[in-house]
Amino acid sequence: MNPQKTLHLGPADFEQASMILSSGGIVALPTETVYGLAGNAFSSESALKIFNAKERPSFDPLITHVSDELLSAQAGVLMGLARAGIVDGSVIGWTSAPVIERMIRQFWPGPLTLILPRGPNIPDEVTSGSPRVGVRMPEHPLFQKVLKLTGFPLAAPSANRFGRISPTTAEHVASELDGRIDAILDGGACSVGVESTIISLEESAAGGLIATLLRPGKISRIDLERSLGVPVGSGVGLGEKNQKIEAPGMLDQHYAPTKPLYLYPGPFPSREELDTWMRNSGVRGKTVFLCQDLASSRNLRSEDRRWVLTPMVDPEAAARSLFSTLRSIDEDASVEQILAELPENTSEGLGAAIADRLNRASVNKPLLKR
Ligand code: TXA
Ligand code: MG
Repeated sequence: MNPQKTLHLGPADFEQASMILSSGGIVALPTETVYGLAGNAFSSESALKIFNAKERPSFDPLITHVSDELLSAQAGVLMGLARAGIVDGSVIGWTSAPVIERMIRQFWPGPLTLILPRGPNIPDEVTSGSPRVGVRMPEHPLFQKVLKLTGFPLAAPSANRFGRISPTTAEHVASELDGRIDAILDGGACSVGVESTIISLEESAAGGLIATLLRPGKISRIDLERSLGVPVGSGVGLGEKNQKIEAPGMLDQHYAPTKPLYLYPGPFPSREELDTWMRNSGVRGKTVFLCQDLASSRNLRSEDRRWVLTPMVDPEAAARSLFSTLRSIDEDASVEQILAELPENTSEGLGAAIADRLNRASVNKPLLKR
């Protein structure tokens, strides 16, 4: 990795950001979920630069981000994606194509990534050799402005070094990637705060739609089931043709702070009960408690050090502050370890997404899914 000067651009500098991208550079851009490290999705060289800067293993594919101009295409978004060589044209012939098109129009632009058969213009380096591609239409206006100026789709993983906490501000990106990338476009703090929901879509031999949730996010499984009218399976890579792990980014150890994070498998109980659990789990030393809201923080002792994600029971606010809070705790030299609790409701949407990210960040992993 050659050291280089990273330009710090303000929101008005989106033209400069797109010029750097057009000449093959890589630029961190804001999305509504987290900041992404973007490069030309049609270019192997740009994709390789992204992998290098992030120190990301080559087996972990990138999501391709597309312009919202596709929504105005008469022939439909799927047809637009196929014509651009992003997804394979066979998708247009799927029995379920109209249902997928309807789901796209319901949730795009927004925090939903679809895994579909890959089109001819997406190089192996973007999908890590997979015949399938992740596609998302981000909602953030700055990202959309840049997409319109470049005229090509942008491959963009989260703009952190591999395995670390995803960035939700330009400052977070700088602390991860300064000197490794061409520029950072500052668009303020991200409004959702956790990465997009990922759903894998396949056509079965009998012509049915196989939908599998690969990563929970703001758009919940129930939202997707209502839209598609079929059950959405869970887990990683349980689609008919892909028995192996389908989203390697969903590795167990991910989104991790540098300090050990222990996860209590529910909302914090009484302090006495928590003491027993901590003793049994080997949690000792200077511990900071990460509470979802003020209600649970009341179970702690007054001298206990704590961070509260959001005062009220509000999953949207909790998700928005999750990664920046983890970063702040990590930077506090007086803390040795973190003990986090789970949100009240972990079965759907943002509650599930927060639980998933905390579980992957934790050293004790109480929620192993596989
Ligand atoms: O919200 C988001 O999705 C953010 C913003 C920047 O858009 N991006 C993001 O990218 O979270 P990343 O690379 O950190 O996570 C993308 C996940 C990875 O787990 C990767 O394995 C999976 O998507 N993925 C991408 N393409 C895939 C494919 N063809 N098949 C299976 N999984 C794929
Ligand atoms: Mg990531």
